[in-house]
Amino acid sequence: MNDNLHQLRCFGCGARISGPEARPDFRCAACGDLFEVEYPGWAKRGGPDRPNPGALKWLWRERRMSAETLDHSGVWRFRELLPFLNNFGNAVTLREGNTPLYPLLRAAKTLGIDQLYAKHQGMNPTGSFKDTGMTAAISVARERGFEWVACASTGNTSAAMAAYAARAGLRSLVLIPEGKTSWGKLSQAMDYGAVTCQLATDFDGCLRLLTEIVREAPIYLLNSVNPYRLEGQKTPAFEIAEAFDWNVPDHLIVPGGNLGNSSALGKGFRELKELGLVARLPRITVVQAAGANPLVQMLAKGPGATLEPVEAHTHATAIRIGNPASWRKAAEVIEETSGWCIDVTEAEIAIAKAELGAEGLGCEPASAVTLAGLKKLRAKSLIGSSDTVVLLLTGHTLKDADYTIDFHRGTLLSEEEKAGASEQVTLKLDALRRNAVSVGATPSAVLAAMKGAGV
Ligand code: F0G
Repeated sequence: MNDNLHQLRCFGCGARISGPEARPDFRCAACGDLFEVEYPGWAKRGGPDRPNPGALKWLWRERRMSAETLDHSGVWRFRELLPFLNNFGNAVTLREGNTPLYPLLRAAKTLGIDQLYAKHQGMNPTGSFKDTGMTAAISVARERGFEWVACASTGNTSAAMAAYAARAGLRSLVLIPEGKTSWGKLSQAMDYGAVTCQLATDFDGCLRLLTEIVREAPIYLLNSVNPYRLEGQKTPAFEIAEAFDWNVPDHLIVPGGNLGNSSALGKGFRELKELGLVARLPRITVVQAAGANPLVQMLAKGPGATLEPVEAHTHATAIRIGNPASWRKAAEVIEETSGWCIDVTEAEIAIAKAELGAEGLGCEPASAVTLAGLKKLRAKSLIGSSDTVVLLLTGHTLKDADYTIDFHRGTLLSEEEKAGASEQVTLKLDALRRNAVSVGATPSAVLAAMKGAGV
């Protein structure tokens, strides 16, 4: 670890410690809050450790054409803003990051927005945004000599951790809620060789248990309470700013679960602004599922409220989280950037996911909350037609094929979930369904099926 260049600052009481002093659960010994990584050398304008914005922009672009393995990573390409490893040779990379920014032409037209894009983090090596954080934190685990790493997960963190641990030659332990994780994600953890434990509790229960375990055994905790995870996850902010030639979009819309990602992206944009690489921050909006919306409920109570955990329910299992760890950080990002925190129903998520699929992109259900949330903000005129909007899609569509198939078969939503929907929403749900049909193995039968689909 390069402890000369970085330190950890407690988000709650402001206490500062060196990296190796952090407790195994990454909670502050004084107040119990979480830490974030801080680089004291950046504070002094003109100081020797403060990066030069113009030089960085040039260097990061040049690296896209480099033959060096580390330069092929969309995380380590920005390593000047990640100076916490002693030796970048310890970085464990699967060439994560450098994900596509797709224009969403149909949604833009329907919503009357000129500039609408999806930053598809599902196009990472293990199919989710977690890879950008995992490359950073697994590299720290390796540098610090751990043999075991572990996480509690709704599925994606475990898939990413297991893959990066395997590349680093480390053993990994996964705790997941039994029956509440998609088969695709579970299969990844098994494939990459993790010790995978399914527990009869929810995500919050898994994380609570793991916190106890890491206090007793030398295991490196890789949930997003680990501040180095968030250092990696801040880099999509750099990619987005770079893609807009260092003019940030007006809005970034992000799904909210354990709230590490919104915190990380906010930190990324804040650092760009503090270092003079961008002139302003995008508004960062967090969207939760209505059945798993503790942050929405807290912010509705007004200033000074603290987060009350909820019992979470949503088909978007990735964000089925009732007691998010990074709520303070996320709340600050929303406030600092003048964003919003809103929730969307199961029917709205299902429609948005099908629409993103129909644009040829697809994503997992948790990612689709971003489009569902955008529709709400647009309907309230909180987002204007000339605003530039980026939706952060967090997971690949193949992560949860069961959800997609259930949707198209019409078996996804319960009667109760459909009952609350307006007639317009019900019609939309039906219009978007493209169920597979069984037909005879003859040309006429296939042609008849095409006719039936309106061809
Ligand atoms: N989208 C997807 C696809 C996710 O997997 C997650 C979180 C989120 C959004 C929410 O991000 O927690 O940083 O607010 N998945 C975690 C996991 C909890 O274990 O894979 P967050």
